[in-house]
Amino acid sequence: MNQNVAEKVVVITGASSGIGEITARHLASLGAHVVLGARRLERLEAIASEIRAQRGRAEIAAVDATKRQDVEALVRTAETAFGRLDVMINNAGLMPLSRLDQTKVDDWERMIDINLKGVLYGIATALPIMRRHNGGHIINIASTAGLRVRPTMAVYSATKFAVRAISEGLRQEATAYNIRSTIISPGPTETDLPRQRHRSGCCGGGPRTASDRHAVSVRGAGDSLRDQPARRSGRERDRPSTNRVVLERRSRKQIGSWIRCSIP
Ligand SMILES: NC(=O)c1ccc[n+]([C@@H]2O[C@H](COP(=O)([O-])OP(=O)(O)OC[C@H]3O[C@@H](n4cnc5c(N)ncnc54)[C@H](OP(=O)(O)O)[C@@H]3O)[C@@H](O)[C@H]2O)c1
Repeated sequence: MNQNVAEKVVVITGASSGIGEITARHLASLGAHVVLGARRLERLEAIASEIRAQRGRAEIAAVDATKRQDVEALVRTAETAFGRLDVMINNAGLMPLSRLDQTKVDDWERMIDINLKGVLYGIATALPIMRRHNGGHIINIASTAGLRVRPTMAVYSATKFAVRAISEGLRQEATAYNIRSTIISPGPTETDLPRQRHRSGCCGGGPRTASDRHAVSVRGAGDSLRDQPARRSGRERDRPSTNRVVLERRSRKQIGSWIRCSIP
């Protein structure tokens, strides 16, 4: 068990499937106390039951990330159950892709509300608590689409560019309060999300094989959580196989730097 993760209280939005789910399972397996939020409560219940069956600690709450009070209630669940908040992972997101000239304004608004405002609500909720306790770690899930724009992805990319901008602002402002920030930019990952993606080739890659499911290699994250050192000078040569999220320790100087990551 990794002592740096054990008993850390980690809140994760969008934990009912995909990257959020596997992150929750993985961190729980390392001894973290996880608090899972999403709209599909029955899925959260099933995941939490499995974590508990393996002697993990997990709590759940129904959360619509577009509602600030829901996000606040999720964090309250963590504080009530475990007495504190160490890590906030703002992961909930969706990706309905279309060309701008299709003017799917409702989809644009949903992406802005969940991918962008959801992250802001997570920060707004976690930051005052972490400031009071003089420490914490906020992790925002962006995307390689936040580094490059492709046809049909303009609005999704815009939300992820914005998440990166906000994360950078957070890094600049919050380091003084011992609050670490990390941005994770996954490449194409086989989850529920890519149903739309496959039609348009999101994130610069096609669909992955079933064996790649849930494999996410995250390089260079902040230092509150750590699984195994995957760093090798300068290049992304460590490719975890499956079901692994690596949050890597880095020197204080590098904490909060942007991360580009990919799957094998
Ligand atoms: N898959 C990829 O290729 C990829 C690449 C780069 C970045 N990402 C990012 O990774 C994050 C997770 O995506 P994923 O691939 O794991 O997709 P996923 O399997 O579809 O998971 C999305 C999660 O977000 C939750 N969610 C959606 N709308 C929500 C809302 N209004 N309130 C609360 N939760 C909501 C969903 O739960 P409920 O439906 O139960 O609410 C689900 O748990 C997203 O931010 C996505 O943009 C994914």
